[in-house]
Amino acid sequence: MENAGKLGLHERYGGHALVTGAARGIGRAFASYLAADGFDLLLVDREAAETNALAEALTAEHGVEAQALICDLTEPGLVEKAERWATDYEIGLLVNNAGISPLDPFLEIPLETHLTTLEVNCRATLVLTHVLGKAMAKRGRGGIIIVSSASALSGSPYFCHYAATKGYGLNLASGLWSELRESGIDVLAVCPGMTDTRPVQDRNLADDLPFYVPIAGPEPVARGALRALGKQPIVIPTFADRMSAGLLSKLMPRSWTLSLVKRSIEKMRG
Ligand SMILES: NC(=O)c1ccc[n+]([C@@H]2O[C@H](COP(=O)([O-])OP(=O)(O)OC[C@H]3O[C@@H](n4cnc5c(N)ncnc54)[C@H](OP(=O)(O)O)[C@@H]3O)[C@@H](O)[C@H]2O)c1
Repeated sequence: MENAGKLGLHERYGGHALVTGAARGIGRAFASYLAADGFDLLLVDREAAETNALAEALTAEHGVEAQALICDLTEPGLVEKAERWATDYEIGLLVNNAGISPLDPFLEIPLETHLTTLEVNCRATLVLTHVLGKAMAKRGRGGIIIVSSASALSGSPYFCHYAATKGYGLNLASGLWSELRESGIDVLAVCPGMTDTRPVQDRNLADDLPFYVPIAGPEPVARGALRALGKQPIVIPTFADRMSAGLLSKLMPRSWTLSLVKRSIEKMRG
């Protein structure tokens, strides 16, 4: 893992950092950088073995206290659980990272799957941001990151509902960036492009991506996000993704963008 340099986020926000979907991919990269910055960590994920192993590894490597909070973010008792976490720990930084991204024609994805996507990508983000945000506001400091997606900037065929849920996160974070500044809380929406976090990529897309689809590793995404927190409302963390998003969501007419994205996904899926 490349050193993120001095982040100074623990000095700024204090206490624990809570990361959802911490066991794998981008969440795991967030957890590693935050442990290196001095945060005690609350690693929320539904997979016990991997999350416990990560907690042990981060504790051993960085001398912080990392613990696994095994939780399915779709569970009905999430509100009560979040309230308990807010009472039991001083949580200075919240990273709403967990997300699921079913890829298929909209009408072929079962409604049940769409509803679960809504619960993980939107409801859990809302619950944690509201409950932990209130505790941060009382202390007068804190940071909240919502991991959205570049797909939120234009919508995406075959990821229609996923992109819509990511638009929710993007807009929630943008409004809160402005509204919560006076409470001492920094909020950031992160819009990564395609990121190599297997098994998501294995599930979704073939290995031979078209040359015009950049793919980043999870570390530059997490690093870019953590460096941008407190400086701006939205970040597209890597240079290649900023170029791609600029072209697709700003320069090209929306109809061209959607046709290109559709063709690209069809090509990648063979
Ligand atoms: N990878 C990309 O190309 C990409 C691009 C743009 C945005 N993003 C966003 O970045 C975030 C992280 O993506 P990623 O690719 O790193 O994902 P990932 O590799 O699949 O990791 C996500 C983690 O969240 C956990 N999780 C999923 N549903 C959960 C639930 N209901 N309760 C608790 N934990 C749950 C997963 O557990 P399981 O392994 O058990 O499912 C997994 O450990 C997501 O919000 C995603 O939408 C990703």
